[in-house]
Amino acid sequence: MSTDSDRIRIAIQKSGRLSEKSMGLLDDSGLNFERPKDSLFFRCENFPLDVMLLRDDDIPEYVIDGVCDLGIVGFNVLEERLLLRGEKARQSIEVVKRLGFGRCRLAIAVPNDRNYDGAASLKNLRIATSYPATLKAFLEDRKISAVIVEISGSVEVAPTLKIADAICDLVSTGTTLRSNGLREVETILESESVLVQTRREISKQKSEDIARLLQRIEGVMKARQTKYIMMNAPRAALDQIRSLLPGMEEPSIMPLGSDGNHIAIHAVSHENIFWETMEKLKMAGASSILVLPIEKIIL
Ligand code: PRP
Ligand code: ZN
Repeated sequence: MSTDSDRIRIAIQKSGRLSEKSMGLLDDSGLNFERPKDSLFFRCENFPLDVMLLRDDDIPEYVIDGVCDLGIVGFNVLEERLLLRGEKARQSIEVVKRLGFGRCRLAIAVPNDRNYDGAASLKNLRIATSYPATLKAFLEDRKISAVIVEISGSVEVAPTLKIADAICDLVSTGTTLRSNGLREVETILESESVLVQTRREISKQKSEDIARLLQRIEGVMKARQTKYIMMNAPRAALDQIRSLLPGMEEPSIMPLGSDGNHIAIHAVSHENIFWETMEKLKMAGASSILVLPIEKIIL
């Protein structure tokens, strides 16, 4: 018998850069949701799971306190929150899986016209950030004294407004920095979205369901980076083609035509196949190269 309290509760970002991909991961894991418009809490119809939409900064808190069993959150947000909350909080939550999306870094940037010669150049500067605890830990670690100016948003305009001499903010493509005349000088944290789980006690039923959910998520992630590749090639090029595709499983090889010199190659590749690789395959003699996504996979 499963009761309502046995249902997994997962917290995801309400709106922002992780929200769509977080929901997409649950969708691709075969979970169906009936989501009334504007609701912040909704049930999954075919799995014992409920979704709670929260501000990303609040997600670690809910999981630490056990209000939610799981959460999807940026590692940067998690780390900041744990530094603020202290050791006890750190022991109440664990990262169970890195999810690979929302990759970014927390970095220090200075105006293009400011000299920078290593972290010591930060001494006595005013640094604007929304991540004061992470920045403080970095500065303490390097034994640099600087003034942390806490700002909740639009950190990158702080130098122009003369509220700060440098900033510490998230960088993904670097566009925001460039368009504000700033350059990156120190990376202080590499981040991506992570799945976190509470360390508070949960029922046996629930932990079994969480294991099942994790297995599905792993399957989705594996399928996303696995491709099916097909091409035609001269038989003599096979060795070179193999060396260009290190992630390729043993391929199926079919003769083309009757002279025995040409083959069709079909294989599953466990690595992403980039344009550069396709260009090299073509130079090796391959033609009609197709790369197809794989929807589901069980190995
Ligand atoms: C982050 C960060 C930068 C921007 C960097 O903001 O604060 O402004 O992304 O990305 P880029 O290197 O690709 O330009 P976000 O969009 O998460 O919004 P927020 O500042 O409101 O958190
Ligand atoms: Zn945010």
